[in-house]
Amino acid sequence: MGGLVYFSSRSENTRRFVERIDETALRLPLDPSADTPLARRPFVLVTPTYGGGGVKGAVPKPVIRFLNNPLNRILIRGVIAAGNTNFGDAFALAGRIIADKCTVPFLYRFELLGTPEDVETVKQGLARFWTAQASPPPPDTAKTTPGLPTFPLQENVR
Ligand SMILES: Cc1cc2nc3c(=O)[nH]c(=O)nc-3n(C[C@H](O)[C@H](O)[C@H](O)COP(=O)(O)O)c2cc1C
Repeated sequence: MGGLVYFSSRSENTRRFVERIDETALRLPLDPSADTPLARRPFVLVTPTYGGGGVKGAVPKPVIRFLNNPLNRILIRGVIAAGNTNFGDAFALAGRIIADKCTVPFLYRFELLGTPEDVETVKQGLARFWTAQASPPPPDTAKTTPGLPTFPLQENVR
């Protein structure tokens, strides 16, 4: 079983989403001069997107600092990203960037503080995800075996 690590700015949309998930969650500090924390167990990262429609700045600086520490990066298992659909193709872009850089699945994306349906989907998806992480199937059956977890929610993120 893992946990959540998240960043949320002063608008606190992501915090309000994470608080409804009911998993142990470590919040990354807003203050750029604060020490970046160390993750103690595998985690899924939840982050908003801040690029204003572009790649530059899409991943918040405290998230970059946190992931720049190899001791944290080694424990990331997946990413969930937030954003605003007004940004079109850049909606929740931070999730794609982090997934590519850290080679972990982009599990889900949601808008602003998320809907009750988003919360329910992520709760159930994470429960299946951590169970699957605890006992991964042999690699050659992973793509073909029916009944494997439907999280990552591919249809949600692409
Ligand atoms: C300056 C600024 C830039 C943003 N850029 C993007 C963006 O490129 N893509 C996106 O999907 N959302 C973007 N957003 C929307 C935020 O990701 C969204 O409001 C999010 O819920 C903020 O989370 P927080 O309140 O936890 O910080 C931007 C918001 C601001 C204020």
